[in-house]
Amino acid sequence: MQIDITTALPRGASVRRVAFLHEAADPAAEAPRRLRPLLSRACRLAGFRGKSTEIATAPLKEGAWILVGLGRPPAGSGQLRRALRRAANEALRPGASKVVFVFGNGVGQGKLRSLLPQLSALDYRFDLYRSSRAGGSKKTRGALWVDDAGDARAFRAAAREAAIVAEAAAWSKDLGNTPANDLGPVEFAARTEAMADRHGLRLQVFDKKRIEKERLAGLLAVNSGSVRPPRFLVGEHRPSSAKATAVLVGKGITFDSGGISIKPSAAMGEMKYDMMGAATVFAVLQAASRLELPVRVVALAPVTENLPSGSACRPGDILRMRNGKTVEVDNTDAEGRLVLADVLSYAEQFQPDVLLDFATLTGAVLVALGVECAGLMTPDDDLSRDLVAAGEAVGERVWRLPVWDEYLENLKSEWADIRNTGGRSAGSINGGIFLKQFVPKGVPWAHIDFAGVAHMEKEQAGWPAGATGFGVALTVEFLKRRFGL
Ligand code: BES
Ligand code: MN
Ligand code: ZN
Repeated sequence: MQIDITTALPRGASVRRVAFLHEAADPAAEAPRRLRPLLSRACRLAGFRGKSTEIATAPLKEGAWILVGLGRPPAGSGQLRRALRRAANEALRPGASKVVFVFGNGVGQGKLRSLLPQLSALDYRFDLYRSSRAGGSKKTRGALWVDDAGDARAFRAAAREAAIVAEAAAWSKDLGNTPANDLGPVEFAARTEAMADRHGLRLQVFDKKRIEKERLAGLLAVNSGSVRPPRFLVGEHRPSSAKATAVLVGKGITFDSGGISIKPSAAMGEMKYDMMGAATVFAVLQAASRLELPVRVVALAPVTENLPSGSACRPGDILRMRNGKTVEVDNTDAEGRLVLADVLSYAEQFQPDVLLDFATLTGAVLVALGVECAGLMTPDDDLSRDLVAAGEAVGERVWRLPVWDEYLENLKSEWADIRNTGGRSAGSINGGIFLKQFVPKGVPWAHIDFAGVAHMEKEQAGWPAGATGFGVALTVEFLKRRFGL
């Protein structure tokens, strides 16, 4: 949804006006000065207190207001995400041509600016597979109301950037929501190629032969059970003004059945989202290029299905990885770390200033952290701080788990250098510590396990149902902060 910046209040029966206010005896006390009398009356009329789950409609003669509670100030990014979603569900009903958003002063200008990608993404729908498209095709326009013309200028630039970020995230969500029958590795590559052409990105697509030549043993092993061939994607945004190089690696399992260590059938269909890491890093690439960020961004994604068959990789198999290490495949369902390991080694040639990987790697991260944040694993305190701060700003939180080398004991193998599983405890960390063995020496690296937040089985906690687009705004914000752009 396009977000215009306005200092006027649009009128009309199809205009929805939404005000976000914190909890207080008089919630309108924090409203922008010019709107305070109006919103004061609206709050009184609706008996609105600003509580965290509250939403009310005040039918003023001058036009109705939808009042959305933010709870006690200051609202954190999880609270804001919930409030935005609640507002969207109320305001973006058929018949609305324009939605104007107003925030109380308790949400600072900086915070408000970093909320713009979230606002722009609120009207995302995936109805390609519905014979009758429910919402109709008419797009609702969004507007953010600001107090004066000076603010409006700064916000307009931010809104243009937010639209680019939201469009990139929508691209990744479309890939995630597409079922695996229509999106295997070849289709993933084709959709990425089409996107790269549209935005003038460099993209190389490696076929199976080339993957063999590059000795991406993990990808080949995981792919061996599928009749669909694997792909390895190498994309690049290379501005002449590049200040630094960021390499982004994304897990691209277009469907994860578990392989021979097959998953239970309940909710297995959700494993079509197991490629969101790959979709995320290419969405970031798209945004970086459209925003002309003066940093070189390389996106790397191993893409395959994980299926059982007579040719599939077996538990007990031992792989010789690209970096020479041997891995005992204890469980074929721990396939993400197998496909990512070699790609982390592959990243060395780009001499990255920072190396991030995004992966829906473990169910355990959902057990540990729920749907509020992704798991962040890195030995680097500065990198951790930067990622946590960027996530908090844009409403895509990450929270750190340790990757001390002591955990390596969990991965001991009787026969090989390491095993791909580590027993029942520290499930997500075992994934992180496994990947750490393949990170090029001296490169600041972080692993983001977003299995808990990359997709939702239903709308919850302010997230939409299906792919969430988590990680796109986070990474763009991180790159800007990290490299002072
Ligand atoms: N893709 C899954 C992780 C996952 C689970 C993502 C639930 C989203 C929702 C991953 O490949 C996997 O199967 N991990 C195993 C690891 C285990 C075998 C060590 C898991 O979490 O059970
Ligand atoms: Mn798996
Ligand atoms: Zn998986």
